[in-house]
Order: sequence, then structure tokens, then C-alpha cells
Amino acid sequence: MKIVKVKDYEEMSQYAADYLIKKINEIDCPVLGLATGSTPEGMYEKLIQANKEGKISFKNITTFNLDEYVGLSEEDPNSYHFFMKDKLLNHVDIQEGNYHIPDGNKIDLEKECQNYEKLIQEAGRIDIQILGVGVNGHIGFNEPGTPFTSRTHIVELSESTRQANSRFFNSIDEVPTKAITMGIETIMESKDIMLLVSGEQKAETLARLLEGEVSEDFPVSVLKKHNHVTLVADEAALSKTK
Ligand code: F6R
Repeated sequence: MKIVKVKDYEEMSQYAADYLIKKINEIDCPVLGLATGSTPEGMYEKLIQANKEGKISFKNITTFNLDEYVGLSEEDPNSYHFFMKDKLLNHVDIQEGNYHIPDGNKIDLEKECQNYEKLIQEAGRIDIQILGVGVNGHIGFNEPGTPFTSRTHIVELSESTRQANSRFFNSIDEVPTKAITMGIETIMESKDIMLLVSGEQKAETLARLLEGEVSEDFPVSVLKKHNHVTLVADEAALSKTK
């Protein structure tokens, strides 16, 4: 794992955007794996700016998001569909049909998981997967205990994840209890992975990643088995790492 130490959130976002822009410009029809949450927001702002300035085009880009809640409509401001449109997709020249987010409103959710996997397989590969990490080590919505062999599946969200995400809702009761997520094996098939970690609240998580064992109890640790991961972490996130 290559570790890039940066000062703060701003520097992390700039590094991540520059890394993506460089990679995207090197690849013919790039396939990106995208994350939601607070961590990549700054990077998305910088990508929008770069798109406006003509430094990057999304015309040939295909994207796959990691996850989506079950039971929120696409117009719900807490849905990841809404997030992605609001924070990136509506502001860049990506083509309709080239971005993909699991549909958590399908009646047959199992089938939706299979279809999502199929779409990723048909795209051939994910060139660069962006990841954030939950305090409990989840990646996507793969909670502790998820098999490393998992593919896109439906998950029961843990109390700690619902608690952490309740900051965006009026109360924890409104936070969905289920989600669809790319599986760990699906994520691990990406050619290149960039993990972004910022802030003191992630410091223990990061120390455990860097100093601890690889274990299904701590999903992000699987990244130590991937040969092309770049971790971009700021000083606050690294503050508990020896
Ligand atoms: C979001 C996702 C999650 C988040 C994680 C960290 O698509 O897959 O794994 O990356 O929950 O969230 P933030 O960035 O809000 O701390």
C-alpha cells in the first residue's frame, strides 16, 4: 500500500483530484468506482472545476457507485442517487446512461444485485475505485464480518453505521436499515484503488489498518492484499498511528 501523507482535508481532496485527472487522461474509456459520504466531497468539487476548465472530460467515462440505501427514492436528499447528482454528475459532461448506482427501490433486490454485478463485468473492469472507510472499518457498506469473497449484495446496516450516518437525517429512525453494496471481491477486482481518510474520528480506524492484521472483522484490512492501493491520509487521521 502506498501511503501519501497530506496536511488536511483540502490537501487530500486536491491530491485525489489530481491523481484521478492524471489517470483519466491516460486511459481511453475510463471506468471509475465512486463513493459517497463526506470524504470525497472536496475531490468532487475539484473535479467539477477541472471539467469546467477543460482539464478533464467525462464524455468517455463510465462510473459505478459502491452502494445505495434500500427504500429511499432517488429524489430523497439522503439517497446516494441524489448525492451523486448534486455533488458531481449534474455538473459535468458525463453521458446519461454512463453512470450506474444500485437501485434500492427494485422489488426484486437480489436480481438488482446480480444485474449490477453483470454491468460491472460487462464494462470489463473498474480502472480506479475511490473508497472512504467507516469508523468500524466498513468499505462500501460491507460491514465487519462480511466475507472477502462477497459480490454485490444486500446488507443489514450495523447500529454504528446507522448512528454515524444519522447526521444527515432528522433522526436515527429515518436511517434505512438495509442497503445494496458492491461486494468486497468486486471492489478488490478494481485495477487501482484510492482510499481517502481524513479527520481525527478516523484515527483509530487508520491505526488499526496500518498496524493490525488482515481480518474479515475489519473489512478495510483486505486492501493490504491488493497490489495497487494508494492511501491518502491527513495528519489528523494519522494522529494515532505510531
Ligand atoms: C459511501 C461508502 C461508505 C463511506 C464511509 C465513510 O459510498 O461506501 O463506505 O465511504 O461510510 O463515510 P464518510 O466519508 O462520510 O466518513
